[in-house]
Parts: sequence; C-alpha cells; structure tokens
Amino acid sequence: MPKKLFIVGVGPGSALYLTDAAKDAVRRSKYVVGYKYTLSTIEGVIDRKKQQVLEVTMKSQEDVYQDVYKKMKDGEYCTVPFTGDANFSESEVVDRLLEIFGDENVQIIPGISSIQIAAAKSRVPTDKALVITFHVTGDIEQKKKDLVQAVKEGRSVILLPRPWPRDLSKHFMQSDIAKFLKANGIDTSKLKVWVFEHLTTDKETTFKGVASDLEGKEFSDLSAMVIDQTKRQTYLEF
Ligand SMILES: C[S@@+](CC[C@H](N)C(=O)[O-])C[C@H]1O[C@@H](n2cnc3c(N)ncnc32)[C@H](O)[C@@H]1O
Repeated sequence: MPKKLFIVGVGPGSALYLTDAAKDAVRRSKYVVGYKYTLSTIEGVIDRKKQQVLEVTMKSQEDVYQDVYKKMKDGEYCTVPFTGDANFSESEVVDRLLEIFGDENVQIIPGISSIQIAAAKSRVPTDKALVITFHVTGDIEQKKKDLVQAVKEGRSVILLPRPWPRDLSKHFMQSDIAKFLKANGIDTSKLKVWVFEHLTTDKETTFKGVASDLEGKEFSDLSAMVIDQTKRQTYLEF
C-alpha cells in the first residue's frame, strides 16, 4: 500500500467546529504536519507519544513535506490540517501536496470555513454573495475587478483580505479595500459591512458599520469581511 495523506479542514479555531471525520483522520495518522495555529485547533486530538507532530512555516514547509514523505513507510498516513475548509483559500499548498503524494493517495476532508461562520453571523447566504479570497500569493488584480463589479451589481461579498505587512503594496486589508472601492466610484458611506476577527475563539470581535468607517482602521490578519447588500426574500413572495 502506498503512503497516504489526509488533507483535513479543521474549522476556524474552536474544537466545536472540528468534525468527527477530521478527528478520525488525525488519529489514524503517524505524522501530523501543520502551521502553529492550525495545530493548536487539533491539539486535543493529537497523541504526541504515538504521533510525530511537525510545525511548519511558509519558509520551511517544502523541506518538511518532502522529508516526511521520504520518512513514511508504505501504508502509513500523514495528516496536513488546514484552518477552516481545506478547499477554500488553501490551493497553493494543497496543489503541491497532491503533486508530492499523487491524487490517488490523498483524501481531502472538508471543514467549516471562516467564510461560512461569517455568512452565518451576518445573515448573508453564500449563494447570494461573491465569495472571494485575496489571501493568495499570486496576482489579485482580476479578483479586485470582480469585487468592484459585484458591488456595482448590488451583490453581497464575503471575502478574506490579504495581510502582507512586509510589502505594503501587496497588503489588501479592510482599510485598503474601502479606499479601493471608493476610488472605483462606489459610495462607501452607504455600503454596509461587517468585519469578524478571531472567529469562534475567545478573542472573537465583530465590527458592523459602513465601508467608509474602515479607512485607517486596522484589523487582525485573522479576519473575514462581509459587504452586505442582501435583500431578504422568503418563499411567501413566490
Ligand atoms: C490562507 S486563508 C485560509 C482560509 C481557510 N481555509 C478557511 O476556510 O477559513 C487564511 C485566512 O483565513 C481567515 N481566517 C481563518 N480563520 C479565521 C478566524 N478564526 N477568524 C477570522 N478569519 C479567519 C483569515 O482571513 C486568514 O488570514
């Protein structure tokens, strides 16, 4: 049997949003490799006496994935946990893991995304919104155009901003987004927004206001934003 990988979404932080399927995958794994915050979400499930746990950073991850793959014996499992849902805003890493392990040896277990929690809290359904991540290393110019178009069309938007403190030209956080929308002809003094920080954790905060309020305001890297233009419509209308 080849070496197997579980790519597991572990929810936005609280263990309450960790599914049984995710826990099961972690328990079956000899190796657990992840970022610090994500590992902390599954700490209660990991058995450090039996499992080898490796913390990675953006810089170290490639070497660690390759080392673990070399060390693994046939039939052994490794879990790489991802915050939220592994299928949202994680593809730069997920695609590399699929390359290393081969699609047929990988099982992806979805999790509850920070986007879904933001949708629930703002009462903006994901099917009525443009759901978009700016939290990528690649180019975001097309995504920025999509954002403006969606807002001009009166759609809601649920988004993850892009923190890039070492290069502010690439930073695209709430304040930058508000200024960008204004510069593109949108009346941000009337545009309703929500910002949620540290969702599902004991540091959780909620900001509710209009987009122009966001100019000059700083929020945590761990934040999701909602632009709310949703018109409620029930089955009684149809
Ligand atoms: C690389 S993306 C991963 C998104 C993740 N896969 C998901 O489905 O939520 C990292 C970003 O997700 C958002 N995020 C993750 N957990 C969060 C939380 N507990 N509260 C607010 N935002 C969160 C933040 O915008 C963070 O910078």
